[in-house]
Amino acid sequence: MSGPHLRDFKRIVFFTGAGMSAESGVPTYRGAGGIWKEYDYRRYACQEAFVRDPAAVWEFHNYRRGLVAACSPNRGYHIVARAGERSARVTVVTQNIDGLHAQAGSREICELHGNLWRVRCDRCHVKQQDGHVVREELRCDGCGGWWRPDIVWFGDHLHAPILDAAQAAIEGCDLFVSIGTSAVVYPAAYLPEYARKAGAVRVEINPDETPASHLYDVHLRGPATEMLARLADGDAELLA
Ligand code: APR
Repeated sequence: MSGPHLRDFKRIVFFTGAGMSAESGVPTYRGAGGIWKEYDYRRYACQEAFVRDPAAVWEFHNYRRGLVAACSPNRGYHIVARAGERSARVTVVTQNIDGLHAQAGSREICELHGNLWRVRCDRCHVKQQDGHVVREELRCDGCGGWWRPDIVWFGDHLHAPILDAAQAAIEGCDLFVSIGTSAVVYPAAYLPEYARKAGAVRVEINPDETPASHLYDVHLRGPATEMLARLADGDAELLA
């Protein structure tokens, strides 16, 4: 297949959204069967909702943990992880909170929107890993504050050091591959512009057009696993 091919690049950034996990069985947010089609984020995914009814917000996130716990990284995740084991330096900049990139073996990961398997005390901000599908203790044993999912909810600010690390990786990359994002949520949706300014080759993988499609040189209109296999182009090691 004519290029681009992953093996031709030295500094790759994979910028991923919910579509990257769709073939693993994790629902997207805005597509058919999307989470926000069924649940109102104003009731389940913002600080006001948490203050109003922490138990309801936890019930919703336990449900999401259950969904994700039943899924595993698809072939696309493994191609991304293996690309990072080669000569090229690979950074994953993800909006996903499901932890599937780390599960697949990717190492350099900027989780822009946090992680479903981590909690943060709403008062003293201490953080804790938590692999349980159902969160038991809801009160911080240190200060008695509420434990909340360590996720960036609507209205929350992103964690500046993570956004800075993502921006730095993108400003230094020669290949920028966007996979499965609708490009409507900011500030994440600003990031492709940094790749354009950096002069990187930009590939958009998405069955559908997005408001950011004009920022890309190459559009691969199909599912993540298949399109990533194309970018790996017969590279046995990446496709193993
Ligand atoms: N392969 C590639 N792309 C896919 C696939 C697939 N198999 N299936 C769906 N897509 C595409 C859809 O066409 C859509 O453009 O993935 C995109 C998913 O878009 P959203 O559901 O809006 O997810 P995302 O862009 O990641 O959402 C951004 O919004 O709700 C907040 O914080 C949440 O991180 C999330 C952010």
